[in-house]
Amino acid sequence: MTVVPPGPTLEPVQVVFGMIPRRRIEIERADFADMLRGLGDDVAQAAAAVREFEDAASAALDGCGVRATASGRDALDLILDGLGLVAGDELVVPAYTLGELVIRMQVRGLRPVAADVDVDTFAVTPQSVARAITPRTRVVVALHVFGAPCDITGIATVTAARGLPLIEDCAHAFGARINGRAAGSFGTAALFSLEVAKPVAAFGGGLLTSTSADLLAKVAARLDQRQRTPWPATRKALMKSIEELAVRSPAYGLAARLMFRKKKVGSFEQFYRSLHDRVRPANAAFSGFQARMALRRLARLSQRNHDLDALWRQVSASLPSGLTAQQRCRFGQPAAYNFVARYAGDLPALRRNAQSLGLDLAIHGEVLDDVAAMLGQRDCPGAAQVFAQAVAIPLHRGIDPTRLQRIGEILAAVAVAAA
Ligand SMILES: Cc1ncc(COP(=O)(O)O)c(C=O)c1O
Repeated sequence: MTVVPPGPTLEPVQVVFGMIPRRRIEIERADFADMLRGLGDDVAQAAAAVREFEDAASAALDGCGVRATASGRDALDLILDGLGLVAGDELVVPAYTLGELVIRMQVRGLRPVAADVDVDTFAVTPQSVARAITPRTRVVVALHVFGAPCDITGIATVTAARGLPLIEDCAHAFGARINGRAAGSFGTAALFSLEVAKPVAAFGGGLLTSTSADLLAKVAARLDQRQRTPWPATRKALMKSIEELAVRSPAYGLAARLMFRKKKVGSFEQFYRSLHDRVRPANAAFSGFQARMALRRLARLSQRNHDLDALWRQVSASLPSGLTAQQRCRFGQPAAYNFVARYAGDLPALRRNAQSLGLDLAIHGEVLDDVAAMLGQRDCPGAAQVFAQAVAIPLHRGIDPTRLQRIGEILAAVAVAAA
């Protein structure tokens, strides 16, 4: 590929050592105060803090019943158990989503079937969901991908006509709204992630929402058995804080170039995920520390989504030809999560060139997975295309006007229109 030489604004020292990182965790002094307070909580104090957060989340989600969980994955497992799914049952899942979700389903003997996604919105459609449903389907999962609402009302019409429960995957979409209603309030149940870069971040954790009293009672019976200890979340917060210091240091540029080389990405990803899984509170109860922190984040959610949405539009406006941003407002008002575009040229070369100029881009499986390919399905060309072309451009509060300008300059320098 031809690379246009960088313009005069690209400073060589920053190019070698500096890097605009792909993500930035928002950590505040108050988080550490909450952490210390959490270590002193007795069980009743922690439970009261969690209840306060669940009530506030319920109010933000139009009154749905809400329970805090160990993670988004944990919330999904609890929903599937609560709906009574057993080995051999079939579920429709988005063809473009987090691969680990379908692996977890397969481990418990369930049979995920992928529904294809639209190449502009990256989301499943009522038509693709209808095509994937078979007489054995027990549940449909729809994802508001990268915070952008999918056509959830159209999908709900399809599932209602067949009497199937609908699960909304809102892992990326806290604060998104469709026709004035909160994402997460359209299906039988929904899951949210409270992982570090998500709209309401609490060093891990998740939320489960449901309009079904029966499902909520079953979930409560499971959650109330769990041990409420502050340590798993505290351990994760400490690890993430150290990671964040590394990301913000000048050495990150060099480290990212070593970690995200073409051949190394797979092994680094594997190492990172296994480390992450080791500190992830697998099925510990949500802690008082996380609840207080999440409550503060929740109070600022609208402002956060508003600010990052404005940034999203600025990044989008600076995209050179050849890069096509996700369409994210077709079905409602999005929450801000990742900025993902499609690039039809040589993606590893685009990333390599951007890295050498100081911009950290995520590509392919570092963004999300082609679940249809993982399942051996060949009938989801939309997901195959989105996966092959997906590039995530940094979108976080660390992007100030100077960095925004640099992102535009670097992308213009490295992107060439697809042949
Ligand atoms: C689409 C999707 N669903 C569910 C999850 C699970 O969330 P968690 O990491 O909190 O388990 C994620 C995680 O990023 C995700 O991307």
